[in-house]
Amino acid sequence: MLRRLALLAAVPAVLATSLSDIQGSAWQSTYAGKKVTDVEGTVTAKSDSGFWITSGNSSLQVYTTSTTDLGKVDVGDSVTLSGTVSSYRSSSQPNDLYVTELDDISTTSSSSGDAPSAIVLGKDVSPPTGQMSALDKGSDGFLSVPNNASSVEATNADLQPDAYGMDFWQSIVNSYVTVPSPVAVDFNDYYGDIYVRGDWNVLGLNSRGGLTMVPDANGLPTPHPDEILVSTPLDNTTLPNVTMGTTLSDISGVLTYQYGYFTILPTTAPKVLSSPDSTVPASNITSSSDQCTITLGDYNVENLAPNSTHMGKVADHIANYLNSPDIMFVQEIQDDSGPTDDGTVSANQTLANLVAAISSAGSSVGYEAIDVNPQNDKDGGEPGGNIRQAYLYNSKKMTLVPGSPAGGATDSTKVINGTDGKPTLSYNPGRIEPYSQAWNDSRKPLAAVWETPSGDRFFTINLQLTAKLDSSSVWGDARPPVNAYVDERTAQVKVVASFIQDILDADSNANIIMGGDCNEYLYTTSVFASLSGLVTEIDALANIPVEERYTYVYNGITEQLDHLFVSDAVKGRGVEAEHIHVNNWAATEADRASDHDPTVAQFKVC
Ligand SMILES: *[C@@H]1O[C@H](CO)[C@@H](O)[C@H](O)[C@H]1NC(C)=O
Ligand SMILES: *[C@@H]1O[C@H](CO)[C@@H](O)[C@H](O)[C@H]1NC(C)=O
Ligand SMILES: *[C@@H]1O[C@H](CO)[C@@H](O)[C@H](O)[C@H]1NC(C)=O
Ligand SMILES: *[C@@H]1O[C@H](CO)[C@@H](O)[C@H](O)[C@H]1NC(C)=O
Ligand SMILES: *[C@@H]1O[C@H](CO)[C@@H](O)[C@H](O)[C@H]1NC(C)=O
Ligand SMILES: *[C@@H]1O[C@H](CO)[C@@H](O)[C@H](O)[C@H]1NC(C)=O
Ligand SMILES: *[C@@H]1O[C@H](CO)[C@@H](O)[C@H](O)[C@H]1NC(C)=O
Ligand SMILES: *[C@@H]1O[C@H](CO)[C@@H](O)[C@H](O)[C@H]1NC(C)=O
Ligand SMILES: *[C@@H]1O[C@H](CO)[C@@H](O)[C@H](O)[C@H]1NC(C)=O
Repeated sequence: MLRRLALLAAVPAVLATSLSDIQGSAWQSTYAGKKVTDVEGTVTAKSDSGFWITSGNSSLQVYTTSTTDLGKVDVGDSVTLSGTVSSYRSSSQPNDLYVTELDDISTTSSSSGDAPSAIVLGKDVSPPTGQMSALDKGSDGFLSVPNNASSVEATNADLQPDAYGMDFWQSIVNSYVTVPSPVAVDFNDYYGDIYVRGDWNVLGLNSRGGLTMVPDANGLPTPHPDEILVSTPLDNTTLPNVTMGTTLSDISGVLTYQYGYFTILPTTAPKVLSSPDSTVPASNITSSSDQCTITLGDYNVENLAPNSTHMGKVADHIANYLNSPDIMFVQEIQDDSGPTDDGTVSANQTLANLVAAISSAGSSVGYEAIDVNPQNDKDGGEPGGNIRQAYLYNSKKMTLVPGSPAGGATDSTKVINGTDGKPTLSYNPGRIEPYSQAWNDSRKPLAAVWETPSGDRFFTINLQLTAKLDSSSVWGDARPPVNAYVDERTAQVKVVASFIQDILDADSNANIIMGGDCNEYLYTTSVFASLSGLVTEIDALANIPVEERYTYVYNGITEQLDHLFVSDAVKGRGVEAEHIHVNNWAATEADRASDHDPTVAQFKVC
């Protein structure tokens, strides 16, 4: 008591304050920078750098590394504190939200009691499904352009916890919460943290137990505010290794915000209750003896070099899970010296090893392989790797239309009339507009024109657009979040669309199959707008349920980065497709061959 009076005398602007006053109804505390006293609450959890208190429906983080301060409190104690309210975020994380905390504390009273009960998520309160923030304006929701048009903290709007995910989690930040019946939705992240959903209503639940990016009730893609990250436990126990669909014992801990994410710091690590079966069924799609029917596989084989340890797995996937498609679109084939930056650009050895490995894995198709070497170090990807797209094909089902030379790195293939009067390509295979600024530091698309033994013709375009590296967190301050290189991908798709238009101008009934690793969701409609009226993505044509449309899992969101598109002629004859989850259903992340799952499809070209 004496101590508090002394403090009062020294600093006149001391306010007797409740936790709900300090937290307020928006993002930033109106008390930030102010000294407060008579802050009462019950201690819910402790760490080496402070503790958390709760009172009524509000909670607060109390920052102190003083062993004296920490020694005075235990979980369950009722405490009365004075200190300074602070809005904290690390200066190295400017896209983080602020966490309101009490600093420079003195404990004015403390008495022991029972540990308070947790807020049970899914029972007491539930996260909304759908959108993160009212600031994600635009027709693509959180994927709208321009990105980073506003800031949560600068706008500091009143929270709408029933409507928006970030507002919901902010409304209970610093609280002690329980996630009942958690299910992991991804492998552990780089730091070992895990993303979970709990026993509450979710959107986009797929058959494996993960949460797929799907449209919400208003048709906007969801960035999944209905899942939550779980980080290092307060008692330093180690989180278990999980995969999509691993079930866990209940998780209780404090909700905080760090490094771009709302996250629960559990009091202790949960236990694994069950793990999903890692057996992946092979595709139902198999090669047909019908000359018109073509099976096609699409696979980003993740930096495949001649001596890559994952070569055997990739080959096994192609032979035994994709059933040796008639043609493979592969991406991320490295040159013959792999990542060694020695000027090598040929990938003959990489491709020869892959073809041999597919045979060794039991395939009876003796694949032919074609690609076009890039200029050294001009196409991005792993430094020195010179990644490029390539085709593997079964020459019993198709051959390159003759009459045109193969293109080089800087040759731009064009749609021309062949000597037989049918449209063909000036370079076959060839790269599309390799000098276009759209492909700066990125892979140029690989186009080819093929004919079946029956003489029917089809065009293919195999691409890998610029990756999303450097994107900002979907839980971050910048709204809509930064979808890195979205403008580059938009420009790249425009170049491809213009090329497809050239083919269709020459023959409106042309068979065209275009796709690969687009590094983008279809829900970013701005990127794919230029393809409208030219080609159609096949997942809907093949009636794949929306929640099963995925080839990738990133930060807990199951999503589709790999797409195949077909022209109307192909669409009209019907399409089948399956995504084969050989990698994202693996028992452990280390068991994967690639970060992408492959796709198999079947088309009729006559
Ligand atoms: C929290 O409690 C305060 C005071 O009782 C009340 O004004 C406020 O509406 C409550 N907030 C929520 C989110 O329930
Ligand atoms: C968003 O824009 C602001 C100011 O224009 C900038 O300071 C900030 O770094 C940007 N955020 C991200 C995540 O790029
Ligand atoms: C947890 O580990 C950190 C760093 O190794 C250590 O400083 C801290 O004392 C540990 N905390 C507990 C509760 O064991
Ligand atoms: C998780 O997997 C990694 C890599 O295999 C291993 O080092 C670690 O010990 C595992 N963790 C647990 C808790 O089993
Ligand atoms: C193959 O067909 C079965 C039966 O319809 C289905 O359950 C399974 O999901 C299909 N496989 C794939 C990879 O789609
Ligand atoms: C592959 O070869 C390169 C260059 O000779 C070497 O640096 C790398 O360690 C090898 N990788 C494996 C998996 O053997
Ligand atoms: C790669 O293969 C192509 C086609 O078989 C051949 O023309 C070329 O000379 C080969 N390049 C190297 C470096 O072996
Ligand atoms: C190709 O031939 C058709 C008619 O056979 C003609 O209309 C068209 O202009 C020609 N296109 C080109 C690029 O030469
Ligand atoms: C091309 O890409 C490189 C590397 O990403 C970048 O530094 C450069 O500014 C880009 N050039 C243009 C003209 O966009």
